[in-house]
Amino acid sequence: MKNFINSSDIQDYNYLLGEINKCKNGLSNSKSILKNKVLGLIFFNPSLRTRLSTQKAAINLGLKSIVMNFKDDGWQLELDDNIIMSGNKAEHIKDAAKVISQYCDVVGIRAFANLENKEIDNSDKIINSFVKHASIPVLNLESSVAHPLQALADAVTINENKNSNKPKIVLTWAPHPKPLPHAVSNSFIKMCKINNYDLTITNPKGYDLNTRITDGIEIIHDQNKAFKNADFIYAKNWSSYDDYGKVLISDNSWMVNDNKMKLTNNAYFMHCLPVRRNVVVSDSVLDSKKSLVIQQANNRTYAAQIILKELMSDEK
Ligand code: CP
Repeated sequence: MKNFINSSDIQDYNYLLGEINKCKNGLSNSKSILKNKVLGLIFFNPSLRTRLSTQKAAINLGLKSIVMNFKDDGWQLELDDNIIMSGNKAEHIKDAAKVISQYCDVVGIRAFANLENKEIDNSDKIINSFVKHASIPVLNLESSVAHPLQALADAVTINENKNSNKPKIVLTWAPHPKPLPHAVSNSFIKMCKINNYDLTITNPKGYDLNTRITDGIEIIHDQNKAFKNADFIYAKNWSSYDDYGKVLISDNSWMVNDNKMKLTNNAYFMHCLPVRRNVVVSDSVLDSKKSLVIQQANNRTYAAQIILKELMSDEK
């Protein structure tokens, strides 16, 4: 694997899930294989899980990691080409990518959507510029449109808990006071498609996601109806895609609670975290035995470890 930018960069998802399972159960031969190699982790946005789980994965592989909070500590980056840089942007992204490639053997980038301009966000300029100009493998730590490491950890978690090859999974929109990006939902949908899961999406009218992502998936605008017989409920907020970046609903009628979970087939509850308690989901659901959120977070380490190993497979 040259870079890990989207779920589709994984050629054999089943093989990778097997490798992650071996890694988690101590059966992998990946311990310390990347000694003396350096992982750069560049964050344009906050993180708890991605930052720490990827560093933990690096420790397990023997990789050293360098972390930079680029927004606070880096120069403002110019993203456009052929531009006279006489404004407040001091460094061009192509130079930054080439320089980081001198210090690191692999680089992870987190750069969220701005939710101001759909076209700009969809071009995923920061991560794609790194892919174009860096001379080392690039790992997506959540870009404008994709969070494939989260989706991989989610697939591991579903695999560990499913009772059939085709579990019924419902991705439900849930309320949030702030406009949030679409990356987690996009990658979760792609992952479910790759694994041939029985996926339904439920969201209020006005919140349909990018049709290029949801193509072929049933979208139900009645949450109670969608929850019926589900084996897994995956909750996530996203801002409107059509009315780009807007919050259209401020009441709590779509919050996941016990009454809604009772409509399901005793479903597991999933969320990528961080989650706003009693806004997105009630305490009772989040703290119940059916909640998988901590298992999802734990699986981030093993997913990152195997992806880093794949990215560095020519470097051992
Ligand atoms: N789920 C996830 O990516 O968490 P962080 O934003 O804390 O990294």
